[in-house]
Amino acid sequence: MSKIQVNNTAALGQVIDQEQVAALRPAAEAAALKLEQGTGLGNDFLGWLHLPSSITPDFLNDIEATAQSLRSKCQYVVTIGIGGSYLGAKAVIEALADNFAAYKPATTHVLFAGNNIGEDYLYDLIDLLKGKQFGIIVISKSGTTTEPSIAFRLLKDMLEQQVGKAEAATRIVAVTDARRGALRGLATQEGYKTYVIPDNVGGRFSVLTPVGLLPIAVAGYDIKALVEGAVEMEKAGSDDIFTYATTRNALYRAGRKIELLVNFNPKLHYFAEWWKQLYGESEGKDHKGIFPAACDFTTDLHSMGQWIQDGERTIYETVISVGEPAHSVVIPDDKANLDGLNFIAGKHVDYVNKMAELGTRLAHVDGGVPNLLITVPALKEKYLGQLIYFFEKACGVSGYILDVNPFNQPGVEAYKKNMFALLDKPGYEAESKAIKAKLGK
Ligand code: PA5
Repeated sequence: MSKIQVNNTAALGQVIDQEQVAALRPAAEAAALKLEQGTGLGNDFLGWLHLPSSITPDFLNDIEATAQSLRSKCQYVVTIGIGGSYLGAKAVIEALADNFAAYKPATTHVLFAGNNIGEDYLYDLIDLLKGKQFGIIVISKSGTTTEPSIAFRLLKDMLEQQVGKAEAATRIVAVTDARRGALRGLATQEGYKTYVIPDNVGGRFSVLTPVGLLPIAVAGYDIKALVEGAVEMEKAGSDDIFTYATTRNALYRAGRKIELLVNFNPKLHYFAEWWKQLYGESEGKDHKGIFPAACDFTTDLHSMGQWIQDGERTIYETVISVGEPAHSVVIPDDKANLDGLNFIAGKHVDYVNKMAELGTRLAHVDGGVPNLLITVPALKEKYLGQLIYFFEKACGVSGYILDVNPFNQPGVEAYKKNMFALLDKPGYEAESKAIKAKLGK
């Protein structure tokens, strides 16, 4: 089986050595056992652990049929959701899509909303959808998250006005809790097709549930291959997972508090956004945790490169290196050679990119930035499935090594409480009074 590979050689020798990494191996093995036996913190949220192998062909066929029904009717399908109810689908679609898909004709474009509270964003989206055939996938486990609720309220009204309530109901699919929440109630009342986000799968671990699978299928990608890749990783041994989890924890203990996830392929930008949520929300608690940051190279070498090469030595890098590009572009010869580029004429663009990647890794290691390397054979569904499961399991293992509960997110409530108090939400009277007093109002 061809699969993703992890190599920590260039992370060793300066800040940490192999002994420090090996010393954490028993903790990693104990963490994996806790996950398997459900004896660790947050053990009511382990539904993701054997999720890939529990997905049946019938279930995937049903999602594909729903996707096909939306594709047959809609030029645009707006996926409404935020955080874990958004980033996985966005990451996979961007990794697989034509970079200029938005500007090229397509049967169906998948758009995203409800992941911000930008008034102009919603205005522009509504403007685009006026008079167009569109559908909605609304995703919210709680059903009450402010950002998606605002977007859904606006777009549901618009769709009903454009095609009538009955037809709109055939173009809206809700992905939510099995029983609880406002969205479940509304979906039942309106007769929407629904999919369930399992109780024991948290948002950031939900990409392989309908949360991710449905939008990815609507975008035209092979969800069976995606799940197959995840199953392969679920069934593979944990060596690579342990290497990543132990190396990053050894680096953290040695003072490297920031992990920079780096790609040399712009299609991986949103994959890094997904990864940032996975690790940030899982590990950043009890005043601990590696800060997950990301850069797109070579783009950001021209902006962040100086800091990375020469700034404060609190970082390490994890490079996701993609083996093969999907297409072939060769640099042409130019008789005048005014740009002096003829020395690479006849070479593939990807060859130059790979030399930039190797040169950057060597330079950054020389500059004191330890380097972890994850190689992905190609940007294809199967390998993305492997990568998703790899990072999810490594996150659970790493969180337990750090001795936090990797599966809760109590810290995300603080801003919501203040926002609701400032908006005078019913039930928040005491908080409103307190926050206004604090602001001197
Ligand atoms: O990981 C998480 O739990 C969060 O990012 C949630 O997914 C996000 O806040 C969206 O929540 P909900 O699906 O309830 O709307």
